[in-house]
Amino acid sequence: MATPIVSIIMGSDSDLPVMRAAAEILQDLKIPFEVTVVSAHRTPHRMVQFAEEAHQRGIQVIIAGAGGAAHLPGMVASLSPLPVIGVPIKSSNSIDGWDSILSILQMPNGIPVATVALNAAKNAGLLAVRILGASNKDILERIKTYQNSLTEQVEEKIKIVEDLY
Ligand code: RP5
Repeated sequence: MATPIVSIIMGSDSDLPVMRAAAEILQDLKIPFEVTVVSAHRTPHRMVQFAEEAHQRGIQVIIAGAGGAAHLPGMVASLSPLPVIGVPIKSSNSIDGWDSILSILQMPNGIPVATVALNAAKNAGLLAVRILGASNKDILERIKTYQNSLTEQVEEKIKIVEDLY
């Protein structure tokens, strides 16, 4: 197995049904990654150790998903020099998802977290690949191929819809 360059972390295993979309797109685009659970509130020392050491292990981008009082992405961003992408999750303890979104989105100046849409783990994976692609031509080409595949998919849909009438 290649050394992971993206780390996907989440506050609980209950986040996995949402977060696995990030793992799947990284797999598809052949980016080595790791997946684990790190809870800001229930394993604070593990979170500090993870965030302080991730860059030393060769990780280049962190994707962090959490729901409810979702402090994981922001706290990891405060401890790590790496880019952090936050995935707000509509979890069992979310009121309506807005609590997760705002907890991750409304960071103070100085500590950026790139927040994707509610449950949008696939986009978090794609954003991680784009960040890597900015300094790696091979990865950039993979993103371009992926974008072209989206265009082709829509072209097929256009045909299907137009052929109905
Ligand atoms: C958050 O609480 C986790 O990220 C998860 O979204 C939510 C619920 O966790 P569990 O009670 O299912 O472990 O910290």
